[in-house]
Amino acid sequence: MNLPPGPSAPAIWQTVAWMTRPGAFLRRVHARFGDPATIRTYWTEEPMVLFSSPDAVRAVFRLDPAIAPAGQSWEFLRPFAGEHSILLLDGEEHLRERRLMTGPFHGERMRSFAPIVSDLARAELATWRGRVSAHERMRELTLEIILRVVFGARDDAEVATLRRSIDDTLSTVRSLPSVLAMAVVRKDLGPHSPWGRFRLAVERFDAMLLELLARRRAEPRDSDSMLAVLLDQHDEDGNPPSDRHLRDELVALLVGGHDSSAASLGWAFELLARHPAAQARLRDGDPAYLDALVKEVLRIRPALTIAPRLLLEPAEIAGHTIPAGVQVAACLWLACRREDLWSGASQFRPERWLGEQPPPNPLSWIPFGGGVRRCAGAPFAEMEMREVLRAASGLTLRPAHSDAERARRSMLVLVPHRGAEVLVG
Ligand code: HEM
Repeated sequence: MNLPPGPSAPAIWQTVAWMTRPGAFLRRVHARFGDPATIRTYWTEEPMVLFSSPDAVRAVFRLDPAIAPAGQSWEFLRPFAGEHSILLLDGEEHLRERRLMTGPFHGERMRSFAPIVSDLARAELATWRGRVSAHERMRELTLEIILRVVFGARDDAEVATLRRSIDDTLSTVRSLPSVLAMAVVRKDLGPHSPWGRFRLAVERFDAMLLELLARRRAEPRDSDSMLAVLLDQHDEDGNPPSDRHLRDELVALLVGGHDSSAASLGWAFELLARHPAAQARLRDGDPAYLDALVKEVLRIRPALTIAPRLLLEPAEIAGHTIPAGVQVAACLWLACRREDLWSGASQFRPERWLGEQPPPNPLSWIPFGGGVRRCAGAPFAEMEMREVLRAASGLTLRPAHSDAERARRSMLVLVPHRGAEVLVG
């Protein structure tokens, strides 16, 4: 197969580098082979061609889903995500689902969620003293935010039940090797085998979600949660969503919104602890600075590294003919950090967003991906980050270790390898 150049090391070696030192791996591949470059990992069955120049990124985002479906790249999530999941659909079906799901993310309704996020963030941060593992705390907080705002959990008891059930299900799939292994060997070898355990956990999780849906359907509707909005929606023929469909929507919001937000906020604390000047400016309370801070965290530490599409037919991307049967990906991580696209790319400088000069090219700030698959929850994610960082403006943070934390992969996202350990106070 005639593909752009890339490392000749065996796939196992590339997989290990991709998992344990993803940042260094991508930097090395780019330095050695330029743009595009082909990598081979066990992450996907096919080789993957990475693109990061604005022209190529635009071309990848504009690929016709009929020849470059994105849903197939998430296929391994199907057993948990479900048949109706936006993550797995393509073409018209995907657009229809997207129209339904993005309803709660707009305008006044979205803004009405901010005070809930702010209260939850303040309650969490009020407990911070001494040495804190910021990433772990953000995992807890962002899950609580999803349970309250997305799932509409009413009280602590409902939050606790949902949290237990989610932990139970996700603990069986948290490590990527076990997800991949299960996707390949979907054999139920009894309730103690990994696949058997996973199936049982998903069944328990579904039963609990279906109960929640029955409770919410029976109650008078308020619109203080995304679930309330989703329950009121109708498809183009006027039919309300089925329970299975709603279940898959909630799971897509959980899968899309939990690890990504927790990782981004974990990085935010890791970076703030190392930049006292940024903490001081945050304390001043300027909303433009807060916005710049969020943008810069997402630029320098994009939680997701790639937006992949599987090519079913050959395609021309920025002057390169790529054959069918290959994954092509906009490399979010490289685009956000290329030295030729960003001045001082590896420096954390929120001020770069406040100057006269606009950022170099919208297609080089792509932490949320782009095109018809751009993150459906992006407005919520940015609001959530702003509220949590605003709530943190009273804290004094120092790094717990002198050397900056590097990135390692946890499932789909890049997280700080020591858990963003900070000293508070
Ligand atoms: C900082 C946090 C977040 C980051 C960095 C992030 C990033 C991304 C990226 C890169 C994609 C794939 C885009 C592509 O393939 O082109 C995506 C998809 C998605 N995200 Fe997010 N996301 C975040 C938070 C959230 C939140 C809070 C939610 C929901 C509550 C969410 C829901 C989704 C959904 C449903 C999709 C699938 C969209 C589709 O296939 O049409 N995300 N996200």
